[in-house]
Amino acid sequence: MTEAMPDNRFLQGAFAPIDTEYEFAELKIEGEVPRDLNGSFYRNGPNQQFPPRGDYHLFAGDGMTHAFHIDDGKVSYRNRWIRTAKFKLEQEHNKAMIDPMNPFNSEQGFEEFVFNDKDGLANTACVWHAGKFLVMEEGHPPFEVDPFTLESLGSYNYGGKLETAMTAHPKLDPLTGEMVFFAYMASGPFASDVALHKVNAEGVLTESHMIDTPYPAMVHDFVVTENYILFPIFPLIGTLERAMEGKMPFAWEPDQGATVGVIPRHGSPADIRWVECDPVFVFHFMNGFDRDGVITVDACQFAYAPLFPRPDGTMLPDNDAKLTRWTIDLNNPSARVVHHQLNGDRSEFPVIDPRRAMQDYRYGYHTSANSDDGEMYNKVVAVDLGAGTTSSYTFGERRTNFISEAIFVPRAEDAAENDGYLLTVATDLSEGKSSLAILDAQNVDAGPIAKAQLEHRIPIGFHGGWRPAS
Ligand SMILES: [Fe+2]
Repeated sequence: MTEAMPDNRFLQGAFAPIDTEYEFAELKIEGEVPRDLNGSFYRNGPNQQFPPRGDYHLFAGDGMTHAFHIDDGKVSYRNRWIRTAKFKLEQEHNKAMIDPMNPFNSEQGFEEFVFNDKDGLANTACVWHAGKFLVMEEGHPPFEVDPFTLESLGSYNYGGKLETAMTAHPKLDPLTGEMVFFAYMASGPFASDVALHKVNAEGVLTESHMIDTPYPAMVHDFVVTENYILFPIFPLIGTLERAMEGKMPFAWEPDQGATVGVIPRHGSPADIRWVECDPVFVFHFMNGFDRDGVITVDACQFAYAPLFPRPDGTMLPDNDAKLTRWTIDLNNPSARVVHHQLNGDRSEFPVIDPRRAMQDYRYGYHTSANSDDGEMYNKVVAVDLGAGTTSSYTFGERRTNFISEAIFVPRAEDAAENDGYLLTVATDLSEGKSSLAILDAQNVDAGPIAKAQLEHRIPIGFHGGWRPAS
């Protein structure tokens, strides 16, 4: 970067982009990396290349992926910007040309770029499925990246079959290897619909369906159980009118109500049943399962959408998500979502042992914070949903320390649920350094059993992933 970033909360401090692509063959290790933990741990997030056009939104930065390759106790690292069409265009012009959140604020002559672009920002999440490493945003198709070198390979569309975007939160069925995912506003900008897609264990896109929604909602995550697919439609609504007025197109409109579309997973999407929900907001679901027509969902639930304005453009204050169990009894003809908050902890970036996805499960993990002094997550929490207890570890002071979403990796394929490791990137802003921290998921309170140290900072990002070595 040749110019300083403007004074925007999401371009400074913990969020400030870094300007170097590093490559380290062997990181300094504190403690001991378990020899049964082998594979790649990825992090993805916005890392804006140039000072942005207009008001920068956290979701609008250029994607950068970080990879920690773990092999027999040793850890190597590299990070790469994803070479999207926007990234390359702006590199060519040596300045920001595109405003992803407001296309009409793009460089003159490039207003149509956002509507035609297939690459997007590749800044939100990643997934390893059927031998492919894909980086996702959510408004565009996935972007394929080499899992080892992080070389950008290009937009990926399943042999021409995928005609919509792909969520940042696809669901992998551990029993069948199937990946289920969706796209919102699937037929075009601000359309009231979602597309549902299924990709089998061999990486073949086998089904695509269009489903109408009550209004054009931003849908960040969804829920898949053994027998149902749930689309929660919260009133974070996008309109072309607001975009054309130069406002943030998305706004929180709770008067529009919230509803959950419940689709039989193995039947016809035409049999969708809409179930009323409190007008709350959820970015991320921990897991969901069903038994005898009763669906249970665990959600990191906000009272309203954070990071977005009201329809008049004024920002809503921040609010914290709390782990909340939803129950939907489909046997009841007037079923609605029953919300039950599980505890008072701040709760975001929920993860599970991926072998329990879509099934009844006992353990979940999420990020949290240990004080009100600061805005970052500096605490990792393991929740025993069976016993109703939690254990946690806090990484330093909240004002100067933050951690990423933690990813659970089982100790072995046949290990019990919760027998494995939690991997997170821990950053100390006072030192300007990040490290890969590895915790024993059964003994989170004890803190990291190993740390692989970087000499630079990884900015706050969104999501990560794991690619097992074998
Ligand atoms: Fe997310």
